Amino acid sequence: MKLDRRHFIEKVFGTVTGVGVVASLYAMKRTWDPLPGIAAAGFTTLDMTKYTKYNHLYMEVWRGKPIFIIKKSTSMLKDMNSARNKYKKQDVSRDIVIDDSHFLMCIGICTHLGCIPAYRSQYENFACACHGAMYDFSGMVTKPPAPRGFDIPPFKRNGNKLILGLDSPEYQKLVKEHATLNKA
Ligand code: FES
Repeated sequence: MKLDRRHFIEKVFGTVTGVGVVASLYAMKRTWDPLPGIAAAGFTTLDMTKYTKYNHLYMEVWRGKPIFIIKKSTSMLKDMNSARNKYKKQDVSRDIVIDDSHFLMCIGICTHLGCIPAYRSQYENFACACHGAMYDFSGMVTKPPAPRGFDIPPFKRNGNKLILGLDSPEYQKLVKEHATLNKA
């Protein structure tokens, strides 16, 4: 009888301890996890079906930085193909292709000293007013002093959407091909 009582107390104690450990671990996890608002702030979802106008600069924001998006028209794609001899292959293979539509998607900050270049749709290029750098509509430098093309933010594809801030094999391929610096 005494033995049963002891087993009962041990069992209850064990259960209470188990529940306590789980509760403590949960509380610790809640403490370590970023607040939902902060976690969400690191990601921006782009619905690429929203960008319908050709040769038009759409701007979004990711982690406080401007994101440039341009949907390329057929004539832009033709120009791009003829420029393949002029630029290295990786320079013109940075397009994000969704349902046969080609997009430039990049961080809209001049890689020289950080100004925000303006898009001139009539010339299909970007001009940086700070020190005169120029970029083509693929975001590649056509005039110094910018040292490289616009950087591409880390992204993960989800159907027709891009989630900026998430790493993916597609993004890492661009990094490996030196099409962009690794921002992941
Ligand atoms: S910051 Fe753009 S050219 Fe210097």
